[in-house]
Amino acid sequence: MKHFTHLKDFTIAELNAMVDSAIALKKSAPAGMPLAGKSLAFCFMNPSLRTQVSFSVATASLGGHPVTLSLGSGGTWGMESVEGVVMDGAAAEHLKEAVPVLGRMCQGLGLRSFPVGKSWAEDKKESALAAFIKYSTVPVINMESASGHPCQALADLMTIRERMDPAKKNFLLSWAPHVKPLPMAVPNSSVEMASMAGMNVTIARPEGYDLDPEVMARVKKNCAANGTKLTVTDDATGAFEGQHVVYGKSWGSLANYGQAPSADPAFRRKWTISSAKMKKTDDGIFMHCLPVRRNLVVNDDVLDGKWAVHIDEAENRLHTAKAVLLHLLASPKTTAAARRHRK
Ligand code: CP
Repeated sequence: MKHFTHLKDFTIAELNAMVDSAIALKKSAPAGMPLAGKSLAFCFMNPSLRTQVSFSVATASLGGHPVTLSLGSGGTWGMESVEGVVMDGAAAEHLKEAVPVLGRMCQGLGLRSFPVGKSWAEDKKESALAAFIKYSTVPVINMESASGHPCQALADLMTIRERMDPAKKNFLLSWAPHVKPLPMAVPNSSVEMASMAGMNVTIARPEGYDLDPEVMARVKKNCAANGTKLTVTDDATGAFEGQHVVYGKSWGSLANYGQAPSADPAFRRKWTISSAKMKKTDDGIFMHCLPVRRNLVVNDDVLDGKWAVHIDEAENRLHTAKAVLLHLLASPKTTAAARRHRK
């Protein structure tokens, strides 16, 4: 059974094939209704706009039936994910029951589950996603976990490929200020995707904001295999020199896990992404997964300027969601028919 939970489970050829499918689906709908008779349950433990709407619309437009559940709120039970605990807290149901039950009613499941933010060692276990994978009898989609957001990365790859051949181009992940210690899922997946796609990767971040060593090891290995450069720097402005893609994102510190970044105005000014920084790029594009806090993460003149592609990037969540659903659920026969239709 196929899942779509972590980028490391895929080759770049497989990811590119899904992006090819998404690019074709953006141009025209597939023939017929490849997901007819199939229902999918999209389970959210945290808020979402793009992920929720893209998977719901993608499923319906392919002829399937989307069911969106807010676990622990909005009328659905709070879920326990850890095995062997005495369930005398807020959670009324264990995923050990809920996941197989959903699998009896639906042909695919999606899960969004953010880190708790107390211990990275605990959050990294991704106990809810692990329970979905363990107990599901149907394909599982990771709609953002503690360590990765592969659906976002696929849309990001599509957005880059629509504008350039990523091979040997320069990709900058630039840390940005925030009022909260945000998850590392998007930054992890963005640099993993860029390194798989054959880009030179630069990460600009303040001291104490290094990404998880396991992710960095994979990025390093990908860059070595592709003959590209990996640079980690605390030069918040110089890092923009010659970049083709700038990915702005805030994330929490592993060194001070769960603590919000400094609110010192000079620190914020140093790391907020500005038009002055973007002018240093090589006609670079500015990407952000959204939601974004204007004039804290990135200034208005970048988001409203010529560099920004964030709305296209968000739209591509829809097309890549369709590609993921077809990859997981469409029979080879319907996928081939859809491909023929597109040609
Ligand atoms: N980028 C992204 O996943 O957006 P949402 O959190 O709104 O789904």
